[in-house]
Amino acid sequence: MGRFLAALSLVASCVSAQSVFNLSDVSWTVSNGVNATVPGKLPSHAHLDLLAAGVIDDPIYGFNEWNQFWVQRMNWTYTSGPLKGLGLTSWLVFEGLDTFCEIKLCGVKVGDTKNQFRKYTFDVSSILPQCKGDPVLSLNFGSASKILDVNPVAKSSANSYRCLATVNSANGYNGQEFQGRTYMRKQESDFGWDWGPVFGPAGPWRPAYIVQKAKTDPVYITNTAIDIFRQGQMPNLSPDQSKPWVFNASIDYIGDLPKGSQFHMKIVDSKGHTLKEANLVDISQSSGTITGNTVINSKVDLWWPSGYGKQPLYTATLSLISPGTPKHATVTKRVGFRTIVLNLNAITPEDRAKGVAPGASWKFEINGHELYAKGSNFVPPDVFWPRVNQTKIKETFELAVNSHFNMLRIWASGAYLPDWAYDLADEMGLLLWSEFQFSVAYFPATPDFLAEYEAEAYYNTRRVNHHPSLALWAGGNELEYLIYGWWLNPRNNTQLEDYETIFQQHLAKCVYANTHSISYIPSSTYHGYTKLDFNSVSPQTSRYDYMESPDAVYLDTDFYNYDGTIAFQYSGYPVGRFADEFGFPSMPSVYSWQEAIPESEFNFDSSYVRHHNRHLSSGSDWFSQSAAGINQFTDSIKLWYPLPELSDPVANFTAWTWTSQVFQADYYQAQIAFYRRGSGLSNRQMGALYWQFNDIWVGPTWSSTEHSLRQKVAYYAAKDIFNPVIVWPFYDEATDVLEVWVVSDLWDKVSGTATLQWVDWKGNPLDVDPPVGVKPAHDGSYKVNFDVQPINATRLVTYPALTTFFACKNPTSNALLSISIQAGGYTHTKFFHQQSLRLSSIADPGLVMTKSLHGNTAQFKITATKGVAAWVWVDYPTTVRGYFDQNGFWLHKGESRTITFTVWDDWSSGAWINDVVLRSIYDNVDQ
Ligand SMILES: *[C@@H]1O[C@H](CO)[C@@H](O)[C@H](O)[C@H]1NC(C)=O
Ligand SMILES: *[C@@H]1O[C@H](CO)[C@@H](O)[C@H](O)[C@H]1NC(C)=O
Ligand SMILES: *[C@@H]1O[C@H](CO)[C@@H](O)[C@H](O)[C@H]1NC(C)=O
Ligand SMILES: *[C@@H]1O[C@H](CO)[C@@H](O)[C@H](O)[C@H]1NC(C)=O
Ligand SMILES: *[C@@H]1O[C@H](CO)[C@@H](O)[C@H](O)[C@H]1NC(C)=O
Ligand SMILES: *[C@@H]1O[C@H](CO)[C@@H](O)[C@H](O)[C@H]1NC(C)=O
Repeated sequence: MGRFLAALSLVASCVSAQSVFNLSDVSWTVSNGVNATVPGKLPSHAHLDLLAAGVIDDPIYGFNEWNQFWVQRMNWTYTSGPLKGLGLTSWLVFEGLDTFCEIKLCGVKVGDTKNQFRKYTFDVSSILPQCKGDPVLSLNFGSASKILDVNPVAKSSANSYRCLATVNSANGYNGQEFQGRTYMRKQESDFGWDWGPVFGPAGPWRPAYIVQKAKTDPVYITNTAIDIFRQGQMPNLSPDQSKPWVFNASIDYIGDLPKGSQFHMKIVDSKGHTLKEANLVDISQSSGTITGNTVINSKVDLWWPSGYGKQPLYTATLSLISPGTPKHATVTKRVGFRTIVLNLNAITPEDRAKGVAPGASWKFEINGHELYAKGSNFVPPDVFWPRVNQTKIKETFELAVNSHFNMLRIWASGAYLPDWAYDLADEMGLLLWSEFQFSVAYFPATPDFLAEYEAEAYYNTRRVNHHPSLALWAGGNELEYLIYGWWLNPRNNTQLEDYETIFQQHLAKCVYANTHSISYIPSSTYHGYTKLDFNSVSPQTSRYDYMESPDAVYLDTDFYNYDGTIAFQYSGYPVGRFADEFGFPSMPSVYSWQEAIPESEFNFDSSYVRHHNRHLSSGSDWFSQSAAGINQFTDSIKLWYPLPELSDPVANFTAWTWTSQVFQADYYQAQIAFYRRGSGLSNRQMGALYWQFNDIWVGPTWSSTEHSLRQKVAYYAAKDIFNPVIVWPFYDEATDVLEVWVVSDLWDKVSGTATLQWVDWKGNPLDVDPPVGVKPAHDGSYKVNFDVQPINATRLVTYPALTTFFACKNPTSNALLSISIQAGGYTHTKFFHQQSLRLSSIADPGLVMTKSLHGNTAQFKITATKGVAAWVWVDYPTTVRGYFDQNGFWLHKGESRTITFTVWDDWSSGAWINDVVLRSIYDNVDQ
């Protein structure tokens, strides 16, 4: 019985006073029944237990992904030690089984599961009496790819795109994505993506419990949905902010809830003051679910995303009080008060009067305010979820909010995030655009699959609805985009019918049945709807390619271009209302490569490097396709930057990997500046979420942070360009016009002053004429005052014929426009160069760095003593983990900047600071 008590305290915060036996507390073995039997854990994946036992090496090192292919092609059975002290009436509760699992208790079959994303409960009261001695639980996980290999539907070529089981086990596995994955409910990226490997892991990936039934306490709570919304609010529509809050609560349970039970709520603020305590009214009860609500008329503190206000949180306790039973089933959730809407409705006459183009909005509104969404896309942070701990997610979110993000898109597919991850986002003010696990493929719409989709969507929408950080539900990733890209005819295709059945009917129903507060869209990258009707089985009538007028704008854009020659051509960027994906891959740093391949392989042509690259381009075989993918970034470097040519192979590799990151950073800044300026143009662009924030392993990807959360140059570049008030030079080569713009996403008008000055690379002022009407100071610098309206943009200055402007006195290769602004307490700077850095006369900036360590932070003062410094970059060694407040910046001649490093982990007692190194793009120049 001792175990029961220990287990109780672990879960007391979320479930009732039942006796709960945590299956993590018992010993486990894992076996393939053939040649490997090792101690197991729960939660776990077989790979992790084999790694812990030393049977396999670090799965993400070198070619281990291929060497360990056998692991994902076998069954793995988790067997518990004897379960002592169980009563005879119990439920088995699994928070998550990955994926095909046959469950037996003392040899008697309990059930089969086939959906990684569901919570399963089984009543084993009829089995327990059959057990001789202490019962033993066994979980036999099948090989997902093997099971799909023999599935006739998945194999059938009729289902064409991404549906074939093509894993080639006979000829050796070549790292290609397994296409049968859309015929199972398992994380799709487990079978490879263009940024990740193929491990197809199996195991009990989330916690599991045995819950003992008690006569005195007849109900066990399995899920809770709390929905806090403004009276009268409906999803996807802007609510009336003057209305009181409705607190709607619903509990799913197993067991028998006695007739006449009361449903009670109490909500307290962070200081313990009760905001409201009441019995819920309008009670409705169906099998295993009870629902009720109450109205909260008192004043509450609103929750705001990071950058816009505080994140006050409240604690809500729900109890089911049954007559004649001494104990109450109780559940506690932390909640917040906010409204969040994705507004896709027609442009209003008021907006038209402000110069907004016709069409429809594509914007988030938080507590009635338009919000410019700034952020990125989140992918699974590791190939094995059971080893993703709260520290890792907390650090990931910390980097996000420190980079001026207010939003992360939790990409499908992926897995639904655990509650504790939403809890962290609630505390940090990070909005999580959440998606169902369906990504850029055709998905079957047969009744058995539809039932699985509904079960998982119903469970997960209810489970996370109480989190104020939850921003949106999207049916999946790039599904509508796929219709335009591959299916060609969106109005005549059975696959389209299946798409509509799943995403416009079934998933829409699951969201709308469970929430008034959260908007739904069938697909990320969505052109919106022409009609919204909550009484229809298909509430959103998708617009697809229908345009009301030629000048109408609807698009949520998703844009990739791998031709480096046009990377900085603004005319090639998409004009839409929102950008939910865009990007370009870069190499991880040498520090990350050190964790993944031998140092002897540090070159772009290494088969190890190619193996870790999954962004393929054309080629005769897989390795040449990978080489072609990598060449897309080496080719881009060759166009735009001075080329490092270092005889030491490690130094050369270091310089090239870094330069690939500089190109990525440069490109992301230009695109983000372009999208943000759109907030002040007729397309009224309202969001920029770059692809992708984090990495699942070490390889060349679009990420801005590496697998260890080491930051790439793009991370700091995005932070810089996500400043609330920014200045950016837009040069159009075709017209030879340079326009300098200021953009603000503040909610109030902001006024400020810009200082502009033309200088050469040595930092000397250039003798050029100022724009008409501007009176320069003696060093040629001049000031311009500006105002920017809320979430808007202003053109600061225009140089109508830039090349002619220079022609007389200065070569473009040695001319930089230095621009700095000050506005409302914000500053931002930018150097414009018309000529590529490759063809520029970059001078030695004479960089000097001093270092000082103060406990958990360190300061680095960097000075450019001789000239302008471009892309100043400070690298920290692997003996420390943490992040800078800024990096990858430019300096004027004579300018100093002090940057701060925040330490997460230090394994060197401070000695790491000696190994901090400095570089800039001048280090690429042949000296
Ligand atoms: C187990 O057997 C498979 C082939 O059936 C083999 O690939 C694998 O290396 C073996 N593993 C161990 C630990 O012996
Ligand atoms: C492998 O696992 C699957 C899924 O649980 C099961 O159906 C099958 O019987 C198992 N096979 C063996 C040989 O244990
Ligand atoms: C942006 O500001 C301009 C004035 O600079 C104004 O004319 C325009 O209406 C504003 N746009 C919006 C959407 O408020
Ligand atoms: C959390 O995970 C990281 C790996 O991401 C690991 O280094 C760290 O030790 C873990 N922390 C805890 C407390 O388990
Ligand atoms: C749909 O496509 C089929 C096959 O191409 C064609 O025969 C049929 O006319 C099309 N129907 C419509 C309404 O376009
Ligand atoms: C440096 O690396 C680049 C990129 O792989 C390569 O093209 C170049 O030949 C290397 N230079 C030397 C001197 O090895």
